[in-house]
Amino acid sequence: MNKEQERILTGMRPTGPLHLGHYVGALENWLKLQEQYDSYFLIADYQALGDHVDDIKRIRNSVIEVALDWLAVGLDPEKTTFVIQSYVPEHAELTMLLSMLIPQSQVDHNPTLKAERAALKDVSNGFVNYPVSQAADILLPKADLVPVGEDQLPHIELTRKVAARFNTTYGHVFPVPRALVGRIPRLVGTDGQAKMSKSLGNCIYLSDSEATVNQKIRAMFTDPTHLRISDPGHVENNPVFIYLDAFHQNDKELDELKAHYQRGGLGDVALKQILAKDIGDFLEPIRERRDHFKAHPELVRQALIEGTLRAKKIAEKTMLEVRDAMGITHYEDSIK
Ligand code: TRP
Repeated sequence: MNKEQERILTGMRPTGPLHLGHYVGALENWLKLQEQYDSYFLIADYQALGDHVDDIKRIRNSVIEVALDWLAVGLDPEKTTFVIQSYVPEHAELTMLLSMLIPQSQVDHNPTLKAERAALKDVSNGFVNYPVSQAADILLPKADLVPVGEDQLPHIELTRKVAARFNTTYGHVFPVPRALVGRIPRLVGTDGQAKMSKSLGNCIYLSDSEATVNQKIRAMFTDPTHLRISDPGHVENNPVFIYLDAFHQNDKELDELKAHYQRGGLGDVALKQILAKDIGDFLEPIRERRDHFKAHPELVRQALIEGTLRAKKIAEKTMLEVRDAMGITHYEDSIK
């Protein structure tokens, strides 16, 4: 099969506006993939319920925010398919059937789930089951490839196992999907913590205004040992340089900045002004597209509804095949 025909599915939980970390870690890659593959991008609102059942308003708002962010960065509904998970109830049905084929021990030993459980006080049964629902997300459209960050690999492994088990038990229905791990890991927060996270308040959002972005950059952590401008500074683990690595376009210039900073004589204020310009230039077209879609909500609606309908058709077909293969259909035919 040639590349053009391969299908990808990936998704995000709608739990807040998207930030630079989402861009660097996922969206930048998705923009390339949409050119090469038949791509499905899922807004996983059911999955988000797992730990946000008390804050459904946030999920409701975020579904639209995420769609706007996706459109703003340049994901193109003419080339891809946006899907709202809960509008395709087949997700729930396949999750239930797959849950019968997945050993509980395999869910219990999932390292990503374990870490997430440890961070939550009390988890719902639905939350614990989300890797199974993620397998259903991937298998419903029969995806061949799943672009994800490394933390999601155990879920892809689970998906591969259950797909293979289904195929050997009931006959071939599902491709066994492969993970496609992105090149760039997570982006540190503006405070230098390991990742951007809404709850840590260290994010620069794709939807932030220019003034907000500049203010966040002015407040960014740098090298704590770099006290006077003339002091030599550290480039490694310095959040400003980590961001410059991600967003400064001219490599040679950046090398010179690093050398200057390490030598001493380059102040943090001046350095941050350069970063502010880089991020400003990066966000400018994103802001423009966002404004365009905000002024044309019918386009956002159309992207979501048409995409979801397309996915629903495929999901219905897959479920017929699943039920047929398993023999859990047409019981009435056996009435003599
Ligand atoms: N769990 C993913 C995350 O938190 C989101 C997600 C939901 C997903 N369904 C998916 C990713 C299917 C890949 C494939 O980012």
